[in-house]
Amino acid sequence: MTTSGSTPGPDVLAAFEKAKGFMPLGEGLALYAAAVEAAALGLPLLEVGTYCGRSTILLADAARAAGVTALTVDHHRGSEEQQPGWDFHDPETVDPVVGRMDTLPTFRRTLHAAGLEDHVVALVGRSPQVARVWGGPLGLVFIDGGHTDEHATADYEGWAPHVADGGLLLIHDVFPVKHDEWTGQAPYRVYLRALESGAFTEVSVHDSLRVLRRTGAGI
Ligand SMILES: C[S@@+](CC[C@H](N)C(=O)[O-])C[C@H]1O[C@@H](n2cnc3c(N)ncnc32)[C@H](O)[C@@H]1O
Repeated sequence: MTTSGSTPGPDVLAAFEKAKGFMPLGEGLALYAAAVEAAALGLPLLEVGTYCGRSTILLADAARAAGVTALTVDHHRGSEEQQPGWDFHDPETVDPVVGRMDTLPTFRRTLHAAGLEDHVVALVGRSPQVARVWGGPLGLVFIDGGHTDEHATADYEGWAPHVADGGLLLIHDVFPVKHDEWTGQAPYRVYLRALESGAFTEVSVHDSLRVLRRTGAGI
């Protein structure tokens, strides 16, 4: 079984819960519902911040049901807070040959186990660099990459212009009040900028996940 309306089927849910990553179940269900809605536009769904594929599973399942493709962008070297010595570091993600993080192999195993490989295109590289060569409209952009102002702003400026009319922009880790040392509030500032642009209107809030819809031009 795969999808049932805007709730993933039990197999997909089980794969999601088993996957390494940072997306809690409640926010994941909201991400999934948004992805199902946006996929009806018939355009690709794009994620910034693949990590080991936990949230990608949900986008991929929604994409599969609608016959579109999920795209996911990551350099797979980890964000600042995932590096050795930081709270969110997982030693299993370090490539012993290179001596740096590499989450791509785990991501591939995650998608394979979920049976969703055929519905995802992994874009391996720095988000702004990939955005510069991306030309098409997107039904959904989900920003869950680096949490510094530099990275969150570049993700917004690189990808939000591609959100089609009526498409959705989702931003993760939006904390109006400082949450902890690693998170910072860059995603919150990007969220405010999107609202203030007049191009996006808030649809819903699910813990730290914000769902916005393109209702005007620009960013
Ligand atoms: C918070 S994790 C993503 C979590 C994932 N969505 C999940 O559900 O578990 C952020 C990811 O963004 C990636 N990242 C950070 N800055 C990036 C950049 N400038 N370009 C590409 N990927 C980046 C990191 O490598 C990391 O894997």
